[in-house]
Amino acid sequence: MRVIEIIHTIAKMQSYAEKSRGKGNTIVFVPTMGYLHAGHLSLMKEGLKHGDDLVVSIFVNPTQFGPGEDLDTYPRDLEKDIELVRKEGAKALFTPDAKEIYGSRYQTYVALDKLPDHLCGLSRPIHFKGVATVVTKLFNIVKPHVAVLGQKDYQQLLVIGRTVEDLNFDIKIIGAPIIRESDGLAMSSRNSYLTPRQRICALSLYESLQNARRLVESGEKDAAKIIAAASDLIKSHPETTIDYIAVCNPETLDDVKTIEGPVLMALAVKVGTTRLIDNMILKP
Ligand code: PAF
Repeated sequence: MRVIEIIHTIAKMQSYAEKSRGKGNTIVFVPTMGYLHAGHLSLMKEGLKHGDDLVVSIFVNPTQFGPGEDLDTYPRDLEKDIELVRKEGAKALFTPDAKEIYGSRYQTYVALDKLPDHLCGLSRPIHFKGVATVVTKLFNIVKPHVAVLGQKDYQQLLVIGRTVEDLNFDIKIIGAPIIRESDGLAMSSRNSYLTPRQRICALSLYESLQNARRLVESGEKDAAKIIAAASDLIKSHPETTIDYIAVCNPETLDDVKTIEGPVLMALAVKVGTTRLIDNMILKP
């Protein structure tokens, strides 16, 4: 039976990391907020291709949730998660509480200048400051050589990649592909909030991305037309409220008007009260 070390404190995690590095291991890190699904497990599988000491964190980070967001109701199932992480072959699971991570006198944040001024950053103004801060802290605690993050949170992946480069972390960041349910819905812990009827409406995100891909592949260059088609399709489903649909540069996230090369199409839609995101790279 595989053995996993469950670690709750920063001091123990740092000492674990030092020992592992001392043995010559490559620490590969998958940061998560728990309630794990096949998407998270695919990050762990990818991780094991790049290192021999897989460390996973589960921490629902309060600083990345805005007022009125789902911090208090975010789904949690630590016992089940521990079993999944253990089976996946992780050697350690770091699962601190908020007091351990932020204490009571916390005042240092990592904020980026430009990347958060797009997409999710517009409707979630403090989100990426919270993400960049906690991931910076987790990198200092877990001391990984490699970290694996999902491309479903495309903007988050860019934010973390930029943070690592700007702050000179000696960590390789790997982006792993989106994992979908058999009907195409991108896997997310928040899918568990959806009623069966909303679950059907949620398929409109992937359908509109696939439709956009077909349009671009058949020569459509006008981003406004592609966005309008996606918007019509999503609005034809009840209980959907579009936050944004964007066609943008995959590195800067600046809007693209005329599609001449690969672009990122990204969208965020509320289905009922559940905010879902999805994205796809479209190539003419
Ligand atoms: O993607 C997530 O689950 C979170 O944003 C992360 C990267 C673990 C930071 O809290």
